[in-house]
Amino acid sequence: MSEKIRILVADDEKAIRDGCHRVLTGQGYEVLAAENGRLALDMLAKEAIDILLLDLKMPVMGGEEVLEIVRTNYPDIPVIIITGHGTVDTAVECMKKGAYDFITKPFQLNQFLIIIGRAADKRTLEIKAKLFQEENLKNLYDLGLEKSRIKTIVNCMGSGVMVTNRNLEVVLHNPALMRLLEISGEVKNPTPITEIIDHEPLTSTLKSILSGEFPQDGSTAQEIPAGKNVLRSISAPVLGPDGAVVGTVTVLENITAFKQLDQMKSDFVNMVAHELRSPLVSIRQLNSVLLEGLAGPMDHKQQDFVGRGTKKIDALLELINDLLDVAKIEAGRFVQRKVPTDIGKILEECIGLLEPRAKNQGIVLSYSCQDLKPIHADPKNMEEIFNNLINNAINYSPDGGQVTVAAKGLGEYVEIKVTDTGVGIPPEELSKIFDKFYRVKHRKTRQVMGTGLGLAIVKGAVEAHHGTIDVESVVDKGTTFRVLLPAMT
Ligand SMILES: Nc1ncnc2c1ncn2[C@@H]1O[C@H](COP(=O)(O)OP(=O)(O)O)[C@@H](O)[C@H]1O
Ligand SMILES: [Mg+2]
Repeated sequence: MSEKIRILVADDEKAIRDGCHRVLTGQGYEVLAAENGRLALDMLAKEAIDILLLDLKMPVMGGEEVLEIVRTNYPDIPVIIITGHGTVDTAVECMKKGAYDFITKPFQLNQFLIIIGRAADKRTLEIKAKLFQEENLKNLYDLGLEKSRIKTIVNCMGSGVMVTNRNLEVVLHNPALMRLLEISGEVKNPTPITEIIDHEPLTSTLKSILSGEFPQDGSTAQEIPAGKNVLRSISAPVLGPDGAVVGTVTVLENITAFKQLDQMKSDFVNMVAHELRSPLVSIRQLNSVLLEGLAGPMDHKQQDFVGRGTKKIDALLELINDLLDVAKIEAGRFVQRKVPTDIGKILEECIGLLEPRAKNQGIVLSYSCQDLKPIHADPKNMEEIFNNLINNAINYSPDGGQVTVAAKGLGEYVEIKVTDTGVGIPPEELSKIFDKFYRVKHRKTRQVMGTGLGLAIVKGAVEAHHGTIDVESVVDKGTTFRVLLPAMT
């Protein structure tokens, strides 16, 4: 403690007051003095005093009387009685009445300092204990306040909140949850979750969270139909002090309006794409007729212009086809007919088609296969997947190099790897390249035309076949896309 111990010396003898002042100040104490009992009490009322040195025989008000008042009004202050030889009996009496100690005049310095030291230690400890207690009380108060604050926030939130224990019983919920789920009656805690939301996928997500299958800091999002509405749930584990999963927390939001908007947007894009496609196809055909000279001969300049027009139309048609594919994937209509498919044959065909372009760019395109089994798939989708991947591998290898396609049977799966030695993809971009319209900016591949939809379609198509796709890449070294598709059993 940085504060000094303050000692009040109440004695009518100036020599004692001065002596105490000198000796005790020298020991690091702060010393105040009063020449009679009344003045001492006045001082106690005004100042924070830690120890009182009290003479028994003083004018105006004697020590005994002062002691009594101090014991009642300031029970924490240790009182040390100063006594002459003649008053030792009285001093003993005072001890009985609660004085801390007594000391006889003339003082023996050593003994005097020991007594004062002990009283000072007692005071210091008491002050520390008191501070500690106050701090504790404050913490308890803060905690109580924090609890009620959190309760207010949870109850006022627009999102529904539901907390379950390990038995999948709901132990906490808020009014918003009841509104979202259109439950009107009282719900007691705990209640089995199925009485609040009976949605199997959510229940199984919560079960996996409880079994620790999910990363403990991660959360899982799901869509849940609720009457006319669509809700989105985000679930995460609740961890106990030792880090073990003790329950789950789910936050629910009403996303019906977003879903409707999204649907309107998709319908609109779909409609526009369809409407644009037919006239573009006609224009392209007319251009071909012109280029072939079927409508009369064209000079070099005319051929050049019409040829450039056709290239632009091709790019537009690619965008339109990609948009229509994305719309189909989102509507779950991309896979049309699944048949036993020889993936090796499809890869060979893709490679055959793309070989001339690869050669043009100084790229060696090679293919190998091993232990291939047929897969149950829509051949059109497979063409789309590998056309996109091999096209990308060629497009994003501006300095030439090698593109290898390797297919092999891997247990119950068929694995197809498309590897290039191109520009690569920075690690922070890897998670985004499968997003719609996302394209990585690269100085060397700026001139590559594209829509940013290819990989979104690839991923959608792979997943529609219950497969997975992942990517590994090193900048300036190359990229490998790996597709796993279930083989036919
Ligand atoms: N093999 C690859 N090497 C380097 N970057 C690639 C490769 N494949 C895809 N990318 C990056 O991912 C982005 C998205 O690819 P994609 O969806 O096919 O769109 P697009 O090819 O039309 O740009 C590309 O723009 C490119 O930046
Ligand atoms: Mg592409």
